[in-house]
Amino acid sequence: MLELAPAQAKAQGPPALGLYVHVPFCASTCDYCAFYQTVPTAKTVHGFLAGVAREAELVAWNRPVDTVFWGGGTPGMLAPGALAELGGIVRRSCGGVPREWSVEMAPASVTPQRLAALKDLGVTRISLGVQSLQAPLLEALGRRHTREQALRAYARVREAGFASVNLDLIFAIPGQTLAAWQADLGAAMELQPDHLSTYCLTFEEDTALFLKLSQGRVRPDAEAEAAFYTAAWERLEAGGYAQYEISNFARAGHACLHNLNTWRMAEWVGLGPSAASQAAGWRGANVADLGRWRADVAAGRRARTEAVELTPRLLAEDSLIFGLRMNEGVPLAGLRARFPEAPWERVEALAARLTGEGLAVIEAGRLRLTLRGRLVADAVGGQIMEAFDEESGATAG
Ligand SMILES: C[S@@+](CC[C@H](N)C(=O)[O-])C[C@H]1O[C@@H](n2cnc3c(N)ncnc32)[C@H](O)[C@@H]1O
Ligand code: SF4
Repeated sequence: MLELAPAQAKAQGPPALGLYVHVPFCASTCDYCAFYQTVPTAKTVHGFLAGVAREAELVAWNRPVDTVFWGGGTPGMLAPGALAELGGIVRRSCGGVPREWSVEMAPASVTPQRLAALKDLGVTRISLGVQSLQAPLLEALGRRHTREQALRAYARVREAGFASVNLDLIFAIPGQTLAAWQADLGAAMELQPDHLSTYCLTFEEDTALFLKLSQGRVRPDAEAEAAFYTAAWERLEAGGYAQYEISNFARAGHACLHNLNTWRMAEWVGLGPSAASQAAGWRGANVADLGRWRADVAAGRRARTEAVELTPRLLAEDSLIFGLRMNEGVPLAGLRARFPEAPWERVEALAARLTGEGLAVIEAGRLRLTLRGRLVADAVGGQIMEAFDEESGATAG
């Protein structure tokens, strides 16, 4: 079996283990969203819960789960009884109490009863999809909730007493000005969440927004995006939210461990339709279709879509791509010792080029992107892929 240590492994022992559950239900589809989800019915929710229970039985749980993340879709829209049932399946799989348990919620479905069910389970972190606190921008995104609902939901989550609360915000929305983005940042910070995720709007295929893009009714503006990014980074940092990844900011002690472990190439088991897994030497995803996923797990099959063997070379490549999106950067010598078979000469040539151009720095042996570098992180990721590409490798660097 392949050794599966993360880039920043603990001194001894196996890498951290995460458990992701994809809950594929939403009240309606937002104009920008391509996550797999469907409108729930009593029958599909029942089928989903039975499928997760069956899938969890197929996993060889060989050590306790460190972190749990329920994403979607909208996990927080399940009825309290269904949340408790799903929580029971998760708790049986965890082999102990996870260090962190995050659940995504949408403002329109946050109720005291749902929050109480989550609190009883031991959930530590609620992530609320606020997106914007301005009516025209919520409208432009095709969101169902209002500013008032978002504020009420936040107050309820706070009142319930979870250890960490995150708010998701989106920027570079068609029609959004820099002043409007500043206003959303200010309003979000005034609420004093523990964590903020700020996502640049992406035009995903098969969404209503993508259709508008292809019809020329909206268009991305790279220059404006850079201004939005910079505004968020400066403002949040000044307000006490330390950036730890391109889109993520936290007060001390509130960074999302589950996501950090994923970006550090640890291991995680994904349950539910479309959920990805990375464990025991392979990576793959479940089929993004509730009925077909149920048939798969009933037949004892998991994570067969895009299944790849986790070679040391692939882990080295992804450790660099995802590691450079984090402010902590990557330990070059440590990665080289762990994955000696990667094309290190080309990686080091790339690192020299990035530092020469002021896009990265090397400090205490770690390669980190600068603010300018973070603005072009996607392009840097592309250059890392090129360095690892066996075909074009000879000419890269
Ligand atoms: C699965 S959703 C979160 C939970 C819940 N369904 C909600 O929307 O309130 C995760 C987050 O991804 C972000 N997101 C989804 N699609 C996006 C896109 N195309 N561009 C930017 N951010 C996106 C949103 O901020 C959203 O809150
Ligand atoms: S953004 Fe959230 S609520 Fe909207 S469709 Fe996607 S998963 Fe559902």
